[in-house]
Amino acid sequence: MKKIAVIGLGYVGLPLAAAFGEKREIVGFDINSKRVLQLKDGVDVTQEVSREELSAASGLSFTDNLEGIRDCQIFIVTVPTPIDEFKTPDLTPLVKASETVGQVLKQGDIVIYESTVYPGATEEVCVPVLEKVSGLVFNKDFFAGYSPERINPGDKEHRVTSIIKVTSGSTPDIADEVDALYASVIIAGTHKASSIKVAEAAKVIENTQRDLNIALMNELSMIFSRLKIDTHEVLAAAGTKWNFLPFKPGLVGGHCIGVDPYYLTHKAQAIGYHPEIILSGRRVNDNMGPYAAAELVKAMIKSGHTVASSRVLVMGLTFKENCPDLRNTRVIDVIQELEDFGCSVDVTDCWADNAEAEHEYGISLVESPESGIYDALLLAVPHREYIVRSAQELRAYLKGNGVLFDLKGVLPLGEAELRL
Ligand SMILES: NC(=O)c1ccc[n+]([C@@H]2O[C@H](COP(=O)([O-])OP(=O)(O)OC[C@H]3O[C@@H](n4cnc5c(N)ncnc54)[C@H](O)[C@@H]3O)[C@@H](O)[C@H]2O)c1
Repeated sequence: MKKIAVIGLGYVGLPLAAAFGEKREIVGFDINSKRVLQLKDGVDVTQEVSREELSAASGLSFTDNLEGIRDCQIFIVTVPTPIDEFKTPDLTPLVKASETVGQVLKQGDIVIYESTVYPGATEEVCVPVLEKVSGLVFNKDFFAGYSPERINPGDKEHRVTSIIKVTSGSTPDIADEVDALYASVIIAGTHKASSIKVAEAAKVIENTQRDLNIALMNELSMIFSRLKIDTHEVLAAAGTKWNFLPFKPGLVGGHCIGVDPYYLTHKAQAIGYHPEIILSGRRVNDNMGPYAAAELVKAMIKSGHTVASSRVLVMGLTFKENCPDLRNTRVIDVIQELEDFGCSVDVTDCWADNAEAEHEYGISLVESPESGIYDALLLAVPHREYIVRSAQELRAYLKGNGVLFDLKGVLPLGEAELRL
């Protein structure tokens, strides 16, 4: 049986490595030595894989040393694919990981990429790096595959083995081998795409579709706010139609939905097509933070608060609920805008790591906010610890006439002054 290495042990790489580790020998490699040490101790700070699951994965070992993966024959690359400040793809981690694999690549090896990219990136960007570093020839000496990941951090129902996995390979035989490899651990089954490019495109449009659907809801929310009707009531009514899709308005953060469309638009522009719909959706979603802050400020003024001397409590900073991931959270846009209005903002988050919040955003999280002192409370991220409390309990943080903004509309209708 071929030995596998997973390169990059984050939200995607670790659960995958653990799933394989229950069945066969696999080495998890990461450049982050601290992460490797923690994993060796059975601790996954992303909270995706439990200590029990890690010990059940008896074939899985961890290393930050290139020598530890030299005897592997299949390399699965699961490193980040972020965007830079100009919102263009930053392929640095992917190139670096390819350089790493190139150094240990041998005749007959297969390199499978899982990171989300634009159609063509595997063969146009990664494979040339592998060829250059290894001196081997693609599709003669070594082969490639692409199998995008669909996990949803914090979601204990849709896990790596219970989601159908798209697979592909650089030749028909390799596509079969890659497909069989994943089929051996993915209980939900696999879908073999006809080419690497098709598999790459499939992943990037899944998230683009979601981004656009949320953008539509956000636009509707802005229209309905002016019409003084509640968006969630409208959606509940429209949702009784069999083919109305159940999307909700909200901030679109994280490193997938709000990022991946830019990979697609980057490639589209490179081939001379200027995407309109995709980018207009992105514009709407990127403006939701300032919009939400302005709505809150209006509601505070109406309730008689002096905005410039007001105190606002924001509950939840992570990019989504029940997940410690702070990367690309758009809650920060609301906070910054509120501060621009002159509000003094306290942020609390029972899932986020304080040091990371401080490092990434300069925010020192308040562990136990004081009762009765806030002019407004923004329930930005409805972690389960927050929504087990009633609106009345949440209001304990507020002054008598304080404003409760239920950004995602998780509280019963009428319990908050404001929701998107
Ligand atoms: N997180 C998700 O929900 C999700 C879902 C589907 C797809 N994806 C995609 O999967 C990819 C990985 O995302 P993630 O959330 O797991 O990222 P992550 O940041 O959680 O993890 C990436 C890991 O790779 C390591 N790494 C970075 N450069 C490396 C290198 N050169 N060599 C070895 N290790 C390296 C980092 O130290 C980190 O531990 C991205 O392309 C992302 O878009 C993510």
